[in-house]
Amino acid sequence: MSFYTLKLRDDDVVEMIDQRKLPLEVDYVELKTYKDVYGAIKDMIVRGAPAIGVSAAFGLYLGAKSLLENNGANNYEAFKNKFFEICDFMFSARPTAVNLGWAVGRIKKLVENAGQKDEGKGSGASKPLMLDELVGFIRAESLKIYDEDIEINKDMGRYGAALLNDGFSVLTHCNAGALATAGYGTALGVIRAAVAENKKISVISDETRPFLQGARLTAWELMEDGIPVTLIADNSAGLLMRRGKINAVIVGADRIASNGDVANKIGTYQVAVLAKENNIPFYVAAPLSTIDLNIASGDEIPIEERDISEVVSVMGKRIAPENAAALNFAFDVTPNKYVTAIITEKGVLYPDYKKSISEVFNLKI
Ligand code: MRU
Repeated sequence: MSFYTLKLRDDDVVEMIDQRKLPLEVDYVELKTYKDVYGAIKDMIVRGAPAIGVSAAFGLYLGAKSLLENNGANNYEAFKNKFFEICDFMFSARPTAVNLGWAVGRIKKLVENAGQKDEGKGSGASKPLMLDELVGFIRAESLKIYDEDIEINKDMGRYGAALLNDGFSVLTHCNAGALATAGYGTALGVIRAAVAENKKISVISDETRPFLQGARLTAWELMEDGIPVTLIADNSAGLLMRRGKINAVIVGADRIASNGDVANKIGTYQVAVLAKENNIPFYVAAPLSTIDLNIASGDEIPIEERDISEVVSVMGKRIAPENAAALNFAFDVTPNKYVTAIITEKGVLYPDYKKSISEVFNLKI
C-alpha cells in the first residue's frame, strides 16, 4: 500500500495521514500529546470507527506517559484516577462509533487488572507494580489493538470475498477502507480480498455528502491500489440499481445493536432501502468490536450532529445562502430487516441477528 493511516513511532509520536486534505494533498501530521490525538479524532484528521479506536488507544498511551513525565502521579491510585479522567476525555471525542469506547474500555481494564494484581504482591518474591512498567503495558496493548485490527480485517475479507462473484459491480458508501482502520479495511477489505482471489470486481463509490468520504477517500484509496472505481453522486444509486448495474452493496458500520440494526454514515439507510427494493444484497462488514451488546436496538445509538458548516460549504467554499438553516446528522440507522448479512472476523452472520449475534459471542439468550 502506498500510504499508511496511522502509526505509533518508536519515538512515541503518533503519525496520521491528514484525511481532511486527501486526495489533493497527501500530508501526515505528528501528534505528541493525548490532547492532540483527541483533536485529530474530533476534527476528523482520522475517522472511521476502527481507526478512531486505534487512535484513542495510542492517545491514551501518550496520556499515561505524560502523567509519569510530569509527576502527575506517584502511586497506583493517583495514577489510575488521573488516567481515567483522560480516558473519559478521549471517550467524548465522537459519540457514534462504539469502537472508541471499546478501545478505551480495553485499556482501562488493563489498568484495573494491573492494580488488582498489584494488591496481591508486596509479600514474597514478586515485586510491586511500577508505574513505568504499567505505562509500558499500555503501550504494548495499544500496539496490539493496532496489529489485531489489521488481522481482523483480513479475516473478515476472506469470509466476505466468498459473497462476491467474479465480475461483480459493488456499491459502497462512505469510506470503510484502509483509511478507516489500522489498514486493509472492512468493506473495502472484502473487496481487496476478492480481488486477491483474482475476481474482477469493480466498485461504485457514493460521493457521501457532506464530508465526501466516498469522493475523496474511497476513490483515492482504491485508485492507489489499482481497483476499478467509479464515483457517483449519492442520488444516482437508485437509477444504477434499477438498470442492473449493481450486484451487491457493502458498507462498514459505526455501531451495530444486538438485534442487528446498523449505524453507519448518513445516507446508508436510503441505500439499504433501495437495495432491498431492487433485490440486491446489502452486506455490512464490521469487526465484533463494532457490535454493542449493551443496546437492544438502533434506537439507542447516539447520532452525532456536526457543525452545519460542513453542509453549507464544500471544501471551505460556501454554497448555500448566508444564514441558511441546515442540519448535519453524521450517521443514520439501518433497521436489521434491510441487512442481508453481517460479515465479521468470525464468519458471516445472517438473520435472525439476535440469535446469530449472541451465538458468535457465545451468549445464552
Ligand atoms: O464520520 P466518519 O467518516 O468517521 O464515518 C465513517 C463511517 O461511517 C464508516 O463507514 C464506518 O466507520 C466504518 S469504517 C470501517
